[in-house]
Amino acid sequence: MNEKDKSWALSIAEQIDKKVKVTSERNQHKIPYTSEKGHFNDCSDQISWWTNGFYAGQLWQLYHAYGEESFKREAEEIEKKLDQNLMDYRGMDHDSGFKWMLTAVADYKITGDERSKNRGMLAANNLAGRFNLSGGYLRAWNDAETGEQAGWAIIDCMMNLPLLYWAFEVTRDPRFTQIAKAHADTVIQNFIREDGSVDHIVTFDPATGEKKQALGGQGLAVGSSWTRGQAWALYGFTLSYIHTKEERYLQTAKRTAEYIIKMIPETGILPVDFKQGKECEWEDSSAAAIIACGLLELERYVGENDQKRYHDQAVCLLHTLTDKRCNWDNGIDPIVENCSAAYHDKDHNMTLIYADYYFTEAILKLCGKEIFLW
Ligand code: GLY
Repeated sequence: MNEKDKSWALSIAEQIDKKVKVTSERNQHKIPYTSEKGHFNDCSDQISWWTNGFYAGQLWQLYHAYGEESFKREAEEIEKKLDQNLMDYRGMDHDSGFKWMLTAVADYKITGDERSKNRGMLAANNLAGRFNLSGGYLRAWNDAETGEQAGWAIIDCMMNLPLLYWAFEVTRDPRFTQIAKAHADTVIQNFIREDGSVDHIVTFDPATGEKKQALGGQGLAVGSSWTRGQAWALYGFTLSYIHTKEERYLQTAKRTAEYIIKMIPETGILPVDFKQGKECEWEDSSAAAIIACGLLELERYVGENDQKRYHDQAVCLLHTLTDKRCNWDNGIDPIVENCSAAYHDKDHNMTLIYADYYFTEAILKLCGKEIFLW
């Protein structure tokens, strides 16, 4: 590891830890998603929301790195609150990976708590149950029991597959890996475009498995390149490679990485969609943080030249975030600013908790203090 990058990252990691010590004190018992006037909101009453694991994940990462006991307590509290989601089948969608890898599975990895393992396994079994045999995909979202979305799969789900890989690791039951790999293979065939970019949503006929169409989803339009979707593909395929060692996943991760690197503007500030107009000022810093995590992981499995390119690109994104898009004021709760949930949303350039999570993960990776939670 480059010592200059490492010592820079170490100083930023300490800065994050210091800030979160202050901000977590006044945000006890909350599950933040975004912020208003610098203060975290609380999603405790929307317990199935897909982002409800990220704050706990950030607290576990920092607890693992620096040992602040109150971080562990807060993360455990969120994990317990999520039991309400586990008992509500309507709220159980494909985002179980995001929710329980960073809460229950993180807890189990760090403390060995059997109750946490139990939660992780319940979530993994539910996720496996979303597999569509004809189409070979994991169904993304639920609908009001109309079946309307029974054929929908989305690129983000690549980040939920690690819950299935973990379930295999603890039970040695190959069904979990079989389902994860079948889904990843369907994504290679149906989402990845010639140039390495990806569709956000692809719909299938849920009865026959036949592909119907690609949708623009959270991006600009059909055929555009929603930046965070590209990031999920890069990091997701890298994780599938790490867990399975299947060469095709590594090659797919590299193709998505090459596309992303080609599209990153010179400013290092990422648009919501790589194909949005030059006049559009909507940004997504969360995508930059996720891409940095993906590249820092991917660089470990490629040749020397690619290794350096991926590393330098990740470091460059992290420097831009740190210098231009992080708020280091302890009076303000979130760290990373200028994120967008979706291109066609009303609100833009807001804060999103997963940007803080992935920024923290990336910085800790760079200084060798991260715990691998995927
Ligand atoms: N998983 C939804 C998103 O990335 O916004």
